[in-house]
Amino acid sequence: MNLQGTMQIGADGHLWIGGCDAVWLAEQFGTPLFVYDEQLLRERIRAFHAAFRAAGVERYQVAYASKAFCTVAMCQLVTEEGCTLDVVSGGELYTALSAGVHPSRIHMHGNNKSREELEYAIDARIGTIVADNFYELELLEEIAGRRDLTVEILLRIAPGVAAHTHEYISTGQQDSKFGFDLESGQARAALEAVQRLPHVRLVGLHAHIGSQIFDSGGFVLAVERLAGLYEQGMALGLPLRVLNAGGGFGIRYTAEDDAAPITSHIRAITDAVRRSFAARSLELPEIWVEPGRSIAGPAGVTLYTVGSQKEIPGVRRYVAVDGGMTDNPRLALYGARYEAVLANRVGERADTVCSVAGKCCETGDMVIWDAPLPEPRPGDILAVFATGAYNYSMASHYNRIPHPAVVFVRDGRATLVVERETWADVARFDRPLSYKAAYACPQGRYPSPSPGSPPEGDAGAWTPASSAVSGPSAPARR
Ligand code: LLP
Repeated sequence: MNLQGTMQIGADGHLWIGGCDAVWLAEQFGTPLFVYDEQLLRERIRAFHAAFRAAGVERYQVAYASKAFCTVAMCQLVTEEGCTLDVVSGGELYTALSAGVHPSRIHMHGNNKSREELEYAIDARIGTIVADNFYELELLEEIAGRRDLTVEILLRIAPGVAAHTHEYISTGQQDSKFGFDLESGQARAALEAVQRLPHVRLVGLHAHIGSQIFDSGGFVLAVERLAGLYEQGMALGLPLRVLNAGGGFGIRYTAEDDAAPITSHIRAITDAVRRSFAARSLELPEIWVEPGRSIAGPAGVTLYTVGSQKEIPGVRRYVAVDGGMTDNPRLALYGARYEAVLANRVGERADTVCSVAGKCCETGDMVIWDAPLPEPRPGDILAVFATGAYNYSMASHYNRIPHPAVVFVRDGRATLVVERETWADVARFDRPLSYKAAYACPQGRYPSPSPGSPPEGDAGAWTPASSAVSGPSAPARR
């Protein structure tokens, strides 16, 4: 059983989180419900600070990767705990600023930041922008130049390190959409390009090799490769001072996940930076990391209510809950595995193997394929562990299912940090079909005629492209 932080089994046989009975939480706030153990969130962050201190590194940043779980309350909490923040979109930046995060403590990532997003970030005076490609460098120069500002950037480098994880969440290998490729010389060319941009100041290098990584070896290799490029940048006279090793530290979802403690990853990274910088007679840079999952993941639990069941004799027993891929798409996307209990019957023998299904119209809408549970009954509360990262943040409205509520719990109290959406909320941007307030396209009804097209007014006689018959034997159109 994946009990972490303040999670425990009460004398009543219920699951308790943050001093609150999970069954009471489900009654109080409804299900599906995301419950975050606030103390555990804080402990996870403190573990990063302690690891840097233990490694004797004073100049570092723990930049929480807000994509893992980004809400106003979460941005407040991580800021209180001394994190800076990594955002990847205008929406995440807006959330962080709404939470009162100081702009200088925010960094912006993204492989295709829009002009609007970059302008928003620059006008808000955020700390650094992590530039991903040559097009972005040009945009940054143009936007900053027009404002007569200098923007501080890091360069995102694809260091050619393939992390051992699911291919969709592996990002540091050469064939990736992210960053400047090191091997082919793109990264070096980017250093030179930045030198020619008067409104862009390059202060560091970044690599993120992937997510849910257990082995520190990939981080070490990436650091060593970045150090080589850093040396080249210093030789060019660039004012480099930051080395950002990204996030990706793995967590325990099931008993099979052998997640190393944060201390050992941080130790491996800081040792690698020390070693590779000393070997080049370079001053130790500021070391930044960007953990998302390892902070938010273990602290989150999803509560569902059990509904219908389907037993296929000799094949499988499906147990359906009132959520699914709309609040947790990770099994459908990556084949992710989770552990669960019945929160109202944790003490009972888990001797029924169940396949926990969601309620969406999609066969792949599963939460867990094989969960040992006590014989489930309608109305039981299913608690799925370690759902704090990339669940709420990847929620969808498929089947027009509203997003669940989110509560933080601490010392026997629960506070609602995101309200549950209603059916009306999911339809709130819809407008009825009507052309009364329609926009008229300035070019008129159809594109201007090209040679061979039918005269105006004959549009009804067009053969749809998909069914058009071509070739010499095509019958004449009547
Ligand atoms: N920094 C950068 C530049 C990233 O792209 C990411 C994650 C992180 C930091 C944080 O990585 P973490 O510490 O959370 O592993 N949706 C996937 C994960 C995608 C991660 C994308 N980038 C999942 O559910 O597993």
